[in-house]
Amino acid sequence: MTDWLALEDAVTLPTYAKPPVALVRGEGTRVWDADGREYLDVYGGHCVALLGHCPPRVVEAVRRQAGRLLFYSNAVYSPVRAEAAAALVALAPDALGRVFWCNSGTEANETALKLARATTGRSRVVAFAGGFHGRTLGSLAATWGEKYHAPYASVLPETTWVPFGWEGAVEEALVGEDVAAVILEPIQSMSGITEAPPRFYQALREICDRTGTVLIFDEVQTGVGRTGAFLYGEHVGVTPDLVTLAKSLGAGVPVGAVLVSDAIAETVRPGDQGTTFGGGMLAMAAVRATLAQLVEDDLMTRAAALFERLAAGFRATGGVVEVRGRGGLVGVTLDRPAPPVRDALREAGVLVGGSGRADTLRLMPPLTMTDAEVDDFLERFAAVLA
Ligand SMILES: Cc1ncc(COP(=O)(O)O)c(C=O)c1O
Repeated sequence: MTDWLALEDAVTLPTYAKPPVALVRGEGTRVWDADGREYLDVYGGHCVALLGHCPPRVVEAVRRQAGRLLFYSNAVYSPVRAEAAAALVALAPDALGRVFWCNSGTEANETALKLARATTGRSRVVAFAGGFHGRTLGSLAATWGEKYHAPYASVLPETTWVPFGWEGAVEEALVGEDVAAVILEPIQSMSGITEAPPRFYQALREICDRTGTVLIFDEVQTGVGRTGAFLYGEHVGVTPDLVTLAKSLGAGVPVGAVLVSDAIAETVRPGDQGTTFGGGMLAMAAVRATLAQLVEDDLMTRAAALFERLAAGFRATGGVVEVRGRGGLVGVTLDRPAPPVRDALREAGVLVGGSGRADTLRLMPPLTMTDAEVDDFLERFAAVLA
């Protein structure tokens, strides 16, 4: 039998430290490896499988679209693109009335940062310690961490770093009137699921309004209903100027988007931004089906119940120090290093994620994960910790 791990290692760049698992099939919260072994996927396919793996409605929509028109770019109009954009805008706050389609989270952030610079005529960006926004140079400049920056320092745009959750530091960083944008993950995910109090987000809105600075929420992980609201800002009564989305938006088909305020949209002209594959029919069919299922199956209500069931289980488990997050974005801080626990869970047939915090696991389960699957997971989790 082919050694898939050896083949892939031999012919791809070693940019990911991967566990020794080659997945070939998925259904709902479950995935199977090439040897037929089943895993409960509480890592949710890297925060992408919002509706579970291979959600039938999305698969069927993609199949149908693939046989009709696989691709055409924004050089032409497209009914499926128009419908996907209308569905996305309908779920967003009224003030975010336009969409720019792209292909990934970093490209969405890159676009948002460009729009902010173009519309303000300013260049500096304020970003937060612990934030992650992607790997292309513009997004990378706003991503926290020397390890990401080191070889590229000379070409990265200027960023002013401030502590997450401290609006006073943002206020200070905005003195000087050369700041184009403040960009943040409303819940910092990679750094271990960190959320600030509502007044922090509200203060950012007020400071950005006062200084003419563009407020960007990177909702690549928190968006598309994952936290129990379509966008995080709904929880705290804040509408940013730009919101970036990716990951869950196509339920597994690559797609990114920027939701743009009407005020910024008015400043954009043909040629200001572009990408060949953004808004392609296959991705648009996936987005349309994903958003339809999210609403029709009331999955944003399910998100809150899912979090409560998981959190109650964790709190009753010895070895858990703290549970943080909302909906299907959960951080579990342990009384011990997390990586060996993650590996032991995999041995027990469960996939979870690590984080930038050595003691914290990250879970991004599908919102369709059933109560029985949650209980099964919690039982295996408790057994591993014991
Ligand atoms: C919050 C956040 N923003 C941006 C990105 C970059 O997205 P992509 O990997 O699709 O470029 C990620 C990826 O993990 C992310 O978590």
